[in-house]
Amino acid sequence: MSKLQKNLFEQARTSVLLKQACEDAITYQNNSHQKAIYPSQHNLELLSEFDTQLPEQMGDENAILSLLAKQGELNTVRYANGRYYGFVNGSALPIGLAAKWLADVWDQNAALFATSPIAAKLESICQQWLQQLFTLPSDTVTGLVGGTSVASLCGLAAARYRQLSRLSWDISQQGLFGAPALRIILGKQTHGTVVKGLNILGFGQQQIEWVECDEQGRMIVDSIPPLDQSCIVVLQAGNVCSGAFDDFHSIIPKAKVANAWVHVDGAFGLWAAASTMFADLTKSIHLADSWSVDAHKTLNTPYDCGVILCADPTALTHALHHQGSYIQPSENRDNMHYTPDMSRRARGIELWACLAYLGRSGIAELVELLHEHAIYFAEQAKIAGFNVLNDVVFNQVILTTDSDEVTVKTLKSIQDSGVTWSGGATWMGQQVIRISICSWATTQSEIDKSIAIFSDCLAKQTQAN
Ligand SMILES: Cc1ncc(COP(=O)(O)O)c(C=O)c1O
Repeated sequence: MSKLQKNLFEQARTSVLLKQACEDAITYQNNSHQKAIYPSQHNLELLSEFDTQLPEQMGDENAILSLLAKQGELNTVRYANGRYYGFVNGSALPIGLAAKWLADVWDQNAALFATSPIAAKLESICQQWLQQLFTLPSDTVTGLVGGTSVASLCGLAAARYRQLSRLSWDISQQGLFGAPALRIILGKQTHGTVVKGLNILGFGQQQIEWVECDEQGRMIVDSIPPLDQSCIVVLQAGNVCSGAFDDFHSIIPKAKVANAWVHVDGAFGLWAAASTMFADLTKSIHLADSWSVDAHKTLNTPYDCGVILCADPTALTHALHHQGSYIQPSENRDNMHYTPDMSRRARGIELWACLAYLGRSGIAELVELLHEHAIYFAEQAKIAGFNVLNDVVFNQVILTTDSDEVTVKTLKSIQDSGVTWSGGATWMGQQVIRISICSWATTQSEIDKSIAIFSDCLAKQTQAN
C-alpha cells in the first residue's frame, strides 16, 4: 500500500480530523455572539496567509485543518447572530446544519436513484411537500440547484422550450438559430440574475420589452404590452430592495389566457405563500408556470439550496434532459432530469430536515416573524431619525437620511462597527441602506442593539456634515 493510501486509511479509521472539525465548528458557533460580525481590515490582511505556491509535497492534515479553523474565526461573516441584515442572507437552522453534516459524511451523488436512493427519495418528498405548501398544481416538479440564479435559468429554459413548441419549433431538434422570435416581458426592477439567465439562453436586450414599475418596484399593470403565445413574462415575489410583490392576481390569469408563460422569481418572497398573513400578496401566484425560490434565504436552510418548481414537467425535463449509455434510468425519481447538472451534492437532505422540523405551522411562523421584525426595525429606525422609503410588506426595509452623502457615510460607519451589518444600494435615484430581516436569530433585543449603533452613526455623520 502506498504511503498516501496508508495515511488516508488512518485518517478515515481514527476520525481525528472529523472530531477536530466538529470541535472547531462548535467553538466557532459558541463564540459567534461576542465576535465582530464582519472581518476587520486587519483580519482581511491576514488572508494573505493562503498566498502560497501549490505545495510540491504532501502536507500535514492537522496543520491544514487548523489553518482553516483559525482563518474561519477571523474572516467569515457571521450571519447567525440576529444583527446581520446584508443582501438577503439567511442563517442556517440548527437541524439543517446537523443534517448537512451527516449528508457531507455520506457524500452522496444525487444524480440518480442508482447513485443515491436516499437523495432521490428525499427530493421526491420535498417536491411533494413544497407543492402542497405553496398550493401549486399537483403535477409540479422540482429541481434542487445552488440558488435562485440557476433556478430561474431552469424555469426560463423550460419557458423557451414550451413557447417555441407552441410556435411549432422543437428547440431540442432544431436549435435556437433561425427559431421564431420570442418576446420577453420584464419589469424594470427585475433582478439582474434573470437577465443573466436570459443571456445564457440566447436572449438579449432586443428581445426584452421593459415594463415601467411604480415607486415600490412593482410592474405597472397597465403598462404591460398585449401578450401572446410568443411571450415569456417574469414576475417578482419580493423585490430585492423593497420586498414588493408584483400584482399576480391582475397579471397571471390574463397572461395564461394569452398562452404566455409566466415565471415567478420568488427568491425569498415565495415563502410568503406558506402563510395566510400574506394571502393578498400571493393571490393567484399558483397560476404561474414556473417559480424559483431559495431555501437558504427565508427558510434558513444552510447554503446552497435553490429550487426550481415547474408546473409543466415535459417542458422542464425536455429543456434539461440528457442521456448516456451508462446511465441507468429507474422507476423512481432520478434527480438529474430536473437540473442542469448531473453529479451534485444531495442538498435535498437538509431541505427535507428543515421542512420536516418546521412543518406547515413552523414555516408560517418563521415567515411571519421575519415580517414582524422588519416592521419593528422600520419603526425603530424612524424614531432614530432615518426615513423609511418602502411599504414594509415583507422582510425588506429601505432607509435613507437627509442626504446621499450622510447616508453613504452612515452606512460605512455601521459596517465598520462590527456589531451590526447591512448593505447599500441605489433606489429610485437615491443612496439607501438596505435591511433584510432573513435570520431566525433576529429578535427585538438584537434589533434594539443594532438600532443603537445605527442611531449613533447617524448622529456622528450628521454632526460632521
Ligand atoms: C429577487 C431575487 N432574485 C434572485 C436572486 C439571486 O439568488 P441567488 O443568489 O440564490 O442565486 C436574489 C438574491 O438575493 C433575489 O433577491
